[in-house]
Amino acid sequence: MQYDDFTALLGARYSCRGFRSDPVSEDTITKILTAAQKVPSWCNAQPWQVDVTMGTETDRLREALYSHAMTAAQTPDVPWPSAYTGAHQSRRKRCGLQLYDSVGVERGDRAASARQMTENFHLFGAPCFALLTAPAELGPYAYLDCGGFITGFTLAAASLGIASIPQAAVAAYAPFLRDWFDLPDDRIVLCGISFGYADETHPANGFRTSRAPLDEWVRLSGQKEKT
Ligand SMILES: Cc1cc2nc3c(=O)[nH]c(=O)nc-3n(C[C@H](O)[C@H](O)[C@H](O)COP(=O)(O)O)c2cc1C
Repeated sequence: MQYDDFTALLGARYSCRGFRSDPVSEDTITKILTAAQKVPSWCNAQPWQVDVTMGTETDRLREALYSHAMTAAQTPDVPWPSAYTGAHQSRRKRCGLQLYDSVGVERGDRAASARQMTENFHLFGAPCFALLTAPAELGPYAYLDCGGFITGFTLAAASLGIASIPQAAVAAYAPFLRDWFDLPDDRIVLCGISFGYADETHPANGFRTSRAPLDEWVRLSGQKEKT
């Protein structure tokens, strides 16, 4: 594989927020999972556990999760970021505005932006959902490993024409998800990934995020090699 092919795959992936209901075959799901697990993990512990729902099971989950989220308090296992400041805050704001502009939410219309946010709990209409959990005893390094897994999963999916979106939002309801998937108390709910075929006409899919220039976040030291 050449660099250009790899960057083309990276460039093709995006977070999809509107899916078609068409099913994804079990064979395709198995291929995504088999590829995703090739990512590195500390000591090769492969700390992820993935509970996948398809079809009517995803529909059952979306209905139950949505009604739970409308009334329950948020109790994530992993604390939410305490603050976004500086560049992080401006990047966060920019991608939020891109989404709201795409779906026609006026600036300052908090009710409409909250409504768009709650689409997380409808799993954006995706036919498939994967819940990612890690064992508590491995601590934060297992979360790093699982972050790598998310990258592997979303890229493998994109290579097969399957759109996806990682969702920390669903982890707000960790106890509900632990009950739903019958997981023991010592598994940390990290995030979900909704996936399926993209509805390319959906307004929420009508924008792409940007990335910061390298000089904002890279510090090179030592001799510069000629390429
Ligand atoms: C760990 C993680 C959690 C995320 N959680 C959410 C989420 O709950 N809801 C959402 O709409 N997007 C979520 N995203 C998607 C990000 O907003 C998205 O990756 C980012 O804006 C960059 O856009 P792109 O994925 O289209 O390149 C999450 C992404 C990651 C990696």
